[in-house]
Amino acid sequence: MDSFIKWIGGKKLLRDRIIEQFPKNFSRYIEVFGGAGWVLFRKDQHAKFEVYNDRDNNLVNLYRCIKFHPEELQKELDLTIHSRELFFDYKEQIETRGLTDIQRAARYFLLIRESFGAKKSSFATQPTNLNKYVEYLSEISERLNSVVIENLDFEHLIKTYDRTDALFYLDPPYVDTEKYYVGNFTQEDHERLCNALKKIKGKFVLSYNDCDHVRGLYKDFNIIEVSRFNNLSNKNNSFNELIIKNYI
Ligand SMILES: C[S@@+](CC[C@H](N)C(=O)[O-])C[C@H]1O[C@@H](n2cnc3c(N)ncnc32)[C@H](O)[C@@H]1O
Repeated sequence: MDSFIKWIGGKKLLRDRIIEQFPKNFSRYIEVFGGAGWVLFRKDQHAKFEVYNDRDNNLVNLYRCIKFHPEELQKELDLTIHSRELFFDYKEQIETRGLTDIQRAARYFLLIRESFGAKKSSFATQPTNLNKYVEYLSEISERLNSVVIENLDFEHLIKTYDRTDALFYLDPPYVDTEKYYVGNFTQEDHERLCNALKKIKGKFVLSYNDCDHVRGLYKDFNIIEVSRFNNLSNKNNSFNELIIKNYI
């Protein structure tokens, strides 16, 4: 199935090439930088035990409301209309206290769905068929039924779920695109991630942009080059990405 949202850096176009690289046997699947979960949702189940994680607490609240309260969230969304004024009201409200989790989830969903490029900042004037997306949340809720949802920094998450039979899929903010995400991923975070991955007992598949910094950090691992269309640029250019694994 598809994700229910677009997301900056979402792996819609690359998901099959990433899954192709997964090992044959693993009994726990952990998606560390979950975002829109394009790789997670691509399969009915990657493993019996699955974990979705992201540092963005509004995004994780949205996932939890879809999983545990889909009908209440759908009811809340049924009350909204496609309007520029409402979009900017929601943008302000999401920063304030006093909303219920369901009200917050509905506002975040609309900010993602109705913004240009899912950046949550500028209102996309093209009308969207919101009803279709709201109905689809029931299917997403079912898919998430047995997925554990976490809101942790990657290092804490990796330590918590690392086992010899684990597969981690990691899709961190790419070098030079960190500003698009909450939490200000830094240069040190790229290095902290590499150090955490050097120590794990399980297997990992990591996607990154192709640059000297990343190639240098991961020079001791199996690096596969792939190219794809650049969705952060208006130009029709393709660029290279890397899939990095700690196994052959
Ligand atoms: C490139 S996006 C992931 C896209 C996802 N694979 C998809 O298909 O939509 C990177 C994600 O990492 C999350 N993130 C940023 N810093 C993080 C951290 N320290 N720990 C965990 N997640 C983090 C961001 O909120 C963002 O959703």
